[in-house]
Amino acid sequence: MPLPKAELHLHIEGTLEPELAFELAARNGVELPYADTEALRKAYLFDDLQSFLNLYYSLMAVLRTEDDFAALADAYLARAAAQGVRHAEIFFDPQAHTARGISIGTVVEGLWRALAASEERHGVSTRLIMCFLRDEPAESALLTLEAARPHLDRITGIGLDSAEVGHPPAKFREVYEAAAALGLRRVAHAGEEGPPAYITEALDLLGVERIDHGLRALEDPDLVARLVRDRVPLTLCPLSNVRLRAVDVLAEHPLPAMMDAGLLCTVNSDDPAYFGGYAEDNFRAVREALGLSPERLRELARNSFEAAFLDDDEPRRAR
Ligand code: HPA
Ligand code: ZN
Repeated sequence: MPLPKAELHLHIEGTLEPELAFELAARNGVELPYADTEALRKAYLFDDLQSFLNLYYSLMAVLRTEDDFAALADAYLARAAAQGVRHAEIFFDPQAHTARGISIGTVVEGLWRALAASEERHGVSTRLIMCFLRDEPAESALLTLEAARPHLDRITGIGLDSAEVGHPPAKFREVYEAAAALGLRRVAHAGEEGPPAYITEALDLLGVERIDHGLRALEDPDLVARLVRDRVPLTLCPLSNVRLRAVDVLAEHPLPAMMDAGLLCTVNSDDPAYFGGYAEDNFRAVREALGLSPERLRELARNSFEAAFLDDDEPRRAR
């Protein structure tokens, strides 16, 4: 039996399996530039974050209706439940859809349909976290927050994702302040490809409560001391780090050193359809490649519940 765990770093668009992509493409009359699911899977060879993002954004073309978003989220929740996930905090990228003419309401209400049924259907509680694309202008993030206003009863928090290097957290200070004023929880990707200074900036300027990835934290001892002291959770994604070449091989992943340093680490799947595994697949991979003891694995599972936004009331606060 897989350990019960919370998944805290999961992009719903990154759960689009080739089979569902082809099904939705057929349903919506979208032409995919791949002969079949095998050919598509063969395209999943990435050099870095950007080469992954190019494919990730282009495949989103198949997602068009509320039904599509509901089907995507329901398929993920079924797989997550089978891997021991009891609670999932799910990222979505509204700008990647509004840029294609899909309204934010279609995205949020479609996802919500699957999330609202999840406890009963899959035994998985959920939260929704709206991410801003950091390689888009800050103004676009502000407009997105404004467009999300009618749907904020569905949304627990905000995050920051997409191409990291050259797009420091400081760029999004204003939108994070506005989100905080609306009572939204705050997280951000930092230190995946970007330097540890981006982690410090996300804490200081954006007021984030968790760091997504934080892989490069160990490069800065003062930062490590601060993260340990304040028990700031890091949502690590080991299989993602290997596929995006942030680490050469899993056996060299810094997770054991990070845990030894006292950091509050969690293990997550990021974009499981692209990176070769869901939550338990990541747990199994680190157990095998890094020789983590059963006690260490239990610590990771415990950390995931400590780091979750489970203290937010259900049903969601009206804003
Ligand atoms: N990093 C940044 N942006 C992303 C990721 C990631 O791992 N996955 C989906 N968007
Ligand atoms: Zn991510």
